[in-house]
Amino acid sequence: MGRSNGSTKWAAALALAFCTTLIMMVPEVSGKRLIVGGSMGWTSNVNYTLWAGNQTFFFGDWLFFVYDRNQNDVIEVNKTNYETCSAENPVHNYTTGAGRDIVELNVTHDRYFISSKGSCYSGMKLQVHLAPLPPPPRAAPAKSQSSRFTIFRSQLVIPAVVTIAIIWDSLLHRV
Ligand SMILES: *[C@@H]1O[C@H](CO)[C@@H](O)[C@H](O)[C@H]1NC(C)=O
Ligand SMILES: *[C@@H]1O[C@H](CO)[C@@H](O)[C@H](O)[C@H]1NC(C)=O
Ligand SMILES: *[C@@H]1O[C@H](CO)[C@@H](O)[C@H](O)[C@H]1NC(C)=O
Ligand SMILES: *[C@@H]1O[C@H](CO)[C@@H](O)[C@H](O)[C@H]1NC(C)=O
Ligand SMILES: *[C@@H]1O[C@H](CO)[C@@H](O)[C@H](O)[C@H]1NC(C)=O
Repeated sequence: MGRSNGSTKWAAALALAFCTTLIMMVPEVSGKRLIVGGSMGWTSNVNYTLWAGNQTFFFGDWLFFVYDRNQNDVIEVNKTNYETCSAENPVHNYTTGAGRDIVELNVTHDRYFISSKGSCYSGMKLQVHLAPLPPPPRAAPAKSQSSRFTIFRSQLVIPAVVTIAIIWDSLLHRV
């Protein structure tokens, strides 16, 4: 009994460690996370046009809107409504209520985000224009090495999940 419990606990710990690794790996593979406004977050009295001018947005990146949920929200609008600060007929309402909203940059056209709570007029509006994907580095060997590594890492994930599942299963059935 004591021994079986040990095996089960060991398998659980291994699975947990693996899942943690997996969760930490995924964002690295699929793009970088950008906190909108940096240390200021998503708030009034920040000119996000100026902020965005300092950023490079790539396809596959993630925008993190961090803000006071009692003061603001995150509404995606079209270009016209971005210019006039109107949240009528939004393209998408990203507000979940936690003051922490995530937007994946998974389309190539420009995106427009505003706060519908009045601060849009003072600059709380963000236009995201994607940069073209960076040109491949000049040194050909370095490039092929790094891309092979990325592929290797993503191909590693699924087989590793299956392996863990098999180990887990065999441990449980031995008990
Ligand atoms: C943009 O970057 C420059 C140089 O890093 C910095 O001095 C400036 O304050 C930044 N502007 C904004 C709006 O973040
Ligand atoms: C944006 O949506 C409004 C309706 O809310 C519409 O009147 C306007 O033509 C749209 N503008 C664009 C550029 O699609
Ligand atoms: C956006 O969604 C939130 C949560 O569902 C809701 O409370 C809010 O009224 C919506 N805002 C707009 C402008 O549609
Ligand atoms: C982009 O991602 C959102 C959710 O993150 C999803 O609802 C939408 O369908 C995706 N669009 C495309 C073109 O993949
Ligand atoms: C934000 O900065 C841009 C670029 O300098 C400027 O054109 C715009 O008027 C500013 N927005 C506000 C609301 O002050």
